[in-house]
Amino acid sequence: MSTPISKLLEETPEDQILDNTLRPKEWNNYIGQEKIKKNLRIIIEAAKKRKETPEHLLLYGNAGLGKTTLAYIIANEMGANIRVSSGPAIEKPGDLASILTNLSDGEILFLDEIHRLNHLIEEYLYPAMEDYKLNLVIGTGPSARTMEIKIPSFTLIGATTRIGLLTSPLRSRFGATFQIGFYELNDIEKIIQRSAKILKVIAEPAAIKIIARCSRSTPRVANRLLKRVRDYAQVEGKGIITKETAQKALKLLEIDQLGLEPGDRKILETIIKKFNGGPVGLQSLAAASSEEEDTILDIYEPYLMQIGFIERTPRGRMVTKLAHKHLGLKLKGIQNSLI
Ligand code: ADE
Repeated sequence: MSTPISKLLEETPEDQILDNTLRPKEWNNYIGQEKIKKNLRIIIEAAKKRKETPEHLLLYGNAGLGKTTLAYIIANEMGANIRVSSGPAIEKPGDLASILTNLSDGEILFLDEIHRLNHLIEEYLYPAMEDYKLNLVIGTGPSARTMEIKIPSFTLIGATTRIGLLTSPLRSRFGATFQIGFYELNDIEKIIQRSAKILKVIAEPAAIKIIARCSRSTPRVANRLLKRVRDYAQVEGKGIITKETAQKALKLLEIDQLGLEPGDRKILETIIKKFNGGPVGLQSLAAASSEEEDTILDIYEPYLMQIGFIERTPRGRMVTKLAHKHLGLKLKGIQNSLI
């Protein structure tokens, strides 16, 4: 079985260790996203000059594009410590209170998947973000009292793949919001080159190009594929990543020239074969393809839309002509006269 893309995109514990090695720690090593870099550098420099903590920042974009990496660079550039948690990990107000009261002045709190923060808990975050205070409710029923606790000044960096799921009171409390988009192909090549150097593996320029083309414009996928190709080169080759080893390793992983893997093809073929090319709603597609709705939304669809293989219409998802051509399938009947 090949590694599904959902696994290539999700962050695993193994990944976190690898990411710590490969993750750039300074702007100089951070490739791509020039505009975001420039804006963030200004925000950080200005805050440093004023000797203040920077405003709260919201980063959004698809999985694997480097939201966490950016948060670590911001912390490093500020010379600040970073504390990491996530929306679903904070289960009760006390969890948030414990995180916030344990911060030190100037620290960064990185909250991943902030859209999954419970809305009741979210309300405790508002005064913390605005005035660095926490209003805790002590006791229950008629004897319940609120207690105001001062917390250290901190910068919240929220990260989300689903900006639309954030409530507007939360969104409005961030001083700046940045959308991290897919990477340019030549930036992905540079990222692979840099990672190969760190991993001390020789990779031919032609091999780097091939891996980059299959990386879904996403650094996390690029680094994962590099590792898989490195494994293949060590077991089946001489340890050097040549064009041929890259091609063979990717073929074994069932990843095609556009970076599509069996899961992507299953989604496309389900729409084509079971729904006549679409339109189809998310629920029906999830049921027919045996995939989770969230996996379709967060993992498969963004890239399939980016390369123009799926279009979202008010009536549901449709597979485009381009995708039919790539899969070697003919357009059927009246379907997709629009696309
Ligand atoms: N690894 C992940 N994202 C990166 C980036 N933007 N630049 C360099 N290495 C990375």
